[in-house]
Amino acid sequence: MKYTLPKYILAACLAIALGCSSTKHNAIATKNSLQLPIDRKVDSVLALMTLEEKVGQMNQYNGFWDVTGPVPKNGAAALKYDHLKKGWVGSMLNVKGVKDVKALQKIAVEETRLGIPLIFGFDVIHGYKTISPIPLAEAASWDLEAIEKSAQIAAAEAAASGLNWTFAPMVDVSRDARWGRVMEGAGEDPYLNSRIAVARVKGFQGDLGELSVAACVKHFAGYSFAEAGKDYNTVEVSNNTLHNIILPPFKAAADAGALTFMNSFNELDGIPATGNIHLQRQILKGDWGFKGFVVSDWGSIGEMIAHGYSKDLKEAAMQAANAGSDMDMESHGYIEHLAALVREGKVPQDNIDDAVRRILHVKFILGLFDDPYKYCNEVREQQTIGKQEFQDGVLDVAKKSIVLLKNEKNLLPLKKTGQKIAVIGALANDKTSPLGSWRIAADDGTAVSVLEGLKQYSGNTITYAKGADVAVGTVAFGSETKINTTDKSGFAEAVNAAKGADVVIMVLGEHGLQTGEGRSRSDLNLPGVQQELLQTIYKVNPNIVLVLNNGRPLTIPWAAQNIPSIVEAWQLGTQSGNAIAQVLYGDYNPSGKLPMSFPRSVGQVPLYYNHKSTGRPGNGQPTESVFWSHYIDVESSPLYPFGHGLSYSKFEYSNLKLSNTTFAKDGKITVSVDVKNSSKVDGKEVVQLYLHDLFASVTRPVKELKGFELTEIKAGQTKTITFAINQKTIEFYTANNKWEAEAGDFKVMVGGSSATSLEAPFSYTN
Ligand code: BGC
Repeated sequence: MKYTLPKYILAACLAIALGCSSTKHNAIATKNSLQLPIDRKVDSVLALMTLEEKVGQMNQYNGFWDVTGPVPKNGAAALKYDHLKKGWVGSMLNVKGVKDVKALQKIAVEETRLGIPLIFGFDVIHGYKTISPIPLAEAASWDLEAIEKSAQIAAAEAAASGLNWTFAPMVDVSRDARWGRVMEGAGEDPYLNSRIAVARVKGFQGDLGELSVAACVKHFAGYSFAEAGKDYNTVEVSNNTLHNIILPPFKAAADAGALTFMNSFNELDGIPATGNIHLQRQILKGDWGFKGFVVSDWGSIGEMIAHGYSKDLKEAAMQAANAGSDMDMESHGYIEHLAALVREGKVPQDNIDDAVRRILHVKFILGLFDDPYKYCNEVREQQTIGKQEFQDGVLDVAKKSIVLLKNEKNLLPLKKTGQKIAVIGALANDKTSPLGSWRIAADDGTAVSVLEGLKQYSGNTITYAKGADVAVGTVAFGSETKINTTDKSGFAEAVNAAKGADVVIMVLGEHGLQTGEGRSRSDLNLPGVQQELLQTIYKVNPNIVLVLNNGRPLTIPWAAQNIPSIVEAWQLGTQSGNAIAQVLYGDYNPSGKLPMSFPRSVGQVPLYYNHKSTGRPGNGQPTESVFWSHYIDVESSPLYPFGHGLSYSKFEYSNLKLSNTTFAKDGKITVSVDVKNSSKVDGKEVVQLYLHDLFASVTRPVKELKGFELTEIKAGQTKTITFAINQKTIEFYTANNKWEAEAGDFKVMVGGSSATSLEAPFSYTN
C-alpha cells in the first residue's frame, strides 16, 4: 500500500521547516527528509495532543479480535476497538502478519484525529518462524557473530511479518536452574551476558531498516533472583549484587543503543520494579542517560496491588507513571486513571510528557511517521519468511551451541557406515519439542528431529524405540501436555533395540515447554521414568551416547559417572536434528562451553562459579571436618563447571606470561598463553580469562570472567592468545557506591573452563 501523508501534516511539515512557531495545526513535523532533529519533531506532535491522546500513547493492548473480521460489538474487544479509534492506544502486542498489522495500523493512521502510528510488539525471543536455539543454548556457543546473525534472522522474519518491536533480549543473570526462564538468557555470568546482550541488540536493531526491529531489554531488574527459583517470587538482593552482577548487562545493552526496556514483576528492596523510581528514573534514565522508553511487564502495574504496594489500580497507575514506567502493558491502569490523576495533581504533566516524548521518539526513529506501513509489505513477507539462508543461519548457530560434556571410550564421533545404531527416547522422534519455549509464531512439528537428522547423515542401520514419554506436567495453556510419570510399557522394545546395537543414542531430558515463563521446577533430574530407562538400557548395552535436550542445567550425577559420552544439545530450534547429527558424526567438531554450572544435586542451587569465598572456605568435600563451609552429603563443586566443554580435539594450555606484574592508572598488562591442539583434528576452543581481586572495600568473587577468545586451532598447531588487562577490567561497584578501580593484588587465571588452575599474580597501584 502506498502511504501518503495527510494534507495537514504536510502543511505542518512545511511550517516547521520554515521555522514557524508551534501552533496546533502547523506543529506536526513528520518527514525525516525535512532533516529536523527528532526532538523537535516529537515536540511538534506533542503540542497537538490532548491529555487523553497522550495517555493513549502510553497504553498497550494485547491483540484482541480477528482484526480483519467483523468489528467487535461488545465486551473487552469492543472497548479496545473504540479506544483504538479514539487514538487512545499507542501500541499493540501479539498481533502479527502483514494483513492484521496493516488493518490495525490503518485505523490508527486514518481514523484517529492525529493519525499517530502504532508500534507492534511481539516476543521474538529466538526466532520468529525459523527458530534458533533457545538463548541459553546460543550463549553456549560463545560466538558473538553467530548470535548476532541469529538475532538478525529473527528480526528479518518478524519485521517482514509487520512487527517492529521484539521483547528481547532478556539479559537477566541467572544463577538458579530451578527458575524456568534461565532458558531465555545467557546464563550465570555478567560479563558473558553483557557481551551477548550487545550482540543481540545489534542483531535485532541492525540499521533500523525494514528488516530490523527495536529491541526491548528485560526484565529491569532483578527478576531472575526469584527466591527458590520460583517464578514471580520475591527477590532479595543486596545493592552490591544489584550493581556488580545484575545491572552490567542492562548497562551494556543501553550503551549499545537498545531503544526500549521492560521492567519486571519482582520487588526490589520492598518496592516493585514497576513502581521503582530508583531503578527507572535514577539509574536507567538518569545515571545511564537512556533516551528510549520503558514498557511495563504484562499486567505488572496492576500486580503492585497483590504485592501489597498499591491500594488499588489508580494508585498503582500513579506510582508506576511517577516512577518512569512509560507504557502500560495490559493493566489498563493508565487508560482508566492517568488523565484523572494528572487533573488531580497526583501525576505531574511533565511525567506524562516525558513518557510520550520517549514513545514518539522511538516511533520516529523506526520511521513509522515517515511510513506507518513500512513493515507491511505482503510480497516481502512471502519472500522473506523461512528463506533457505535463514535455515542455514540457524543450523550454523545450532551446531555451535552444542556442548560435549564427556567423551570416553571413543564412542564419538560416530562412524558413518557399518554401525548398528539404536536411537531411544521420545525426544529423539519429536519435531516440536526442539523449538523450545517462546516460539509463538513457529508451527508445531517444524523442527528436524534427531532421528531424521541421524538418518540423513549416514548409511548406518538405525532402529528407533521410544522407551518412555517425557513427563511434562502442566506446562502449556492448551492440551499438548503429556503427563507420564510411571508408564514403562515401552521399556522392553527399547531394551531389544539396544541389545543388538553397536552404539545406543539416548535422547533424554525436558520437553521444550518444560522451561520458560511459569515453568519452575523443584527438581532438576531427568523427568519421569527417563533415569530408570537410562539405567535399564545401560545394563544391556553400556555403549551409550546420552544426548540431552533441556532448557536448564540438570542434575545427572549417575550419567556423569557411568555413561561414556554425554552431549548437551539443549533445544536447538528448527534445525535441531541436523545440528546434532553433524556433531555426533564429527562433521562439526563441538566447540560449545557451558554458560551455567551443572549442579550435582538440586540442593546446591543457586550454584555459580563466581561466588564469594566465605570466612571458612574449606575444600568443599563431604569428608571435610565439620566447621567448614561444605555439605556433608555432596561435594560442593559443580558436576560440570561454567565454561566447561570438550572437543574432538585436545587442547593443552601452557606458558602463561604477563608483560608486567604491576600496572598503574592508564597503564595495562598483556597476558599471553599458549594453547596447543595436540590431537589429529582441527578444532575450536574458547580461551577464557578470569581475575580474582584478592581484597577490596567490598568482598569480591573468587573468580570473574573478564575476557574470552573463540579461536580455531589446527591439528598439531600451537597458538599464542593474548588479552589486555587495564583499569576498566578491574573496576567494580565499590563501597563508595561507584564504579572504580581499587589498588591491590590480583590473580589472573586462563584456561578452557572456569575450573582452570593456570594462574599468575599482579597488582594495581593508583
Ligand atoms: C513476560 C515478558 C513478555 C510479556 C509479553 C510477560 O509475561 O514476563 O517477558 O515479554 O509477557 O508477552
